[in-house]
Amino acid sequence: KRILVIHGPNLDLLGKREPQVYGKTSLAEINRSLKQTAKKSKISLTIAQSNHEGEIVDLIGGARGKFDMIIINPAAYTHTSIAIRDAIAASAVKTIEVHLSNIHAREEFRQTSLIAPVCIGQISGFGARSYSLALFAAEALLKNRNK
Ligand code: DQA
Repeated sequence: KRILVIHGPNLDLLGKREPQVYGKTSLAEINRSLKQTAKKSKISLTIAQSNHEGEIVDLIGGARGKFDMIIINPAAYTHTSIAIRDAIAASAVKTIEVHLSNIHAREEFRQTSLIAPVCIGQISGFGARSYSLALFAAEALLKNRNK
């Protein structure tokens, strides 16, 4: 099974960026832990980070036929990007939305996700663990798919 993880804008700054909101774990640490889990489960994991909306659209577009699942934290684009939403809808690759913070408990402008309606579901509010939970969910879904 092949899973693509996409980290959106400013997530390269994790650990240094508003640690009271996003935690002290760096993106490299999150990625290392995801890779470890994936290895144990014999999942091939590709991880990308981009600050650019168009680049994220391209990554999603390129995933068709190459990946069985996408895990994405669209970061600020969650609340603004029709382009990323359309890319997910067009890609036909099942997608899980992830957030470190609980976006529903924050400013009003963060409480709407344009991405969630085209995803299997959303995991929000568990810090770095949100990614592990998403990988766990993806794995479970992919296991059951061919049974
Ligand atoms: C975020 C939440 C977004 O509102 C914010 O713009 C981010 C990170 C999260 O993971 O909690 O950059 O997606």
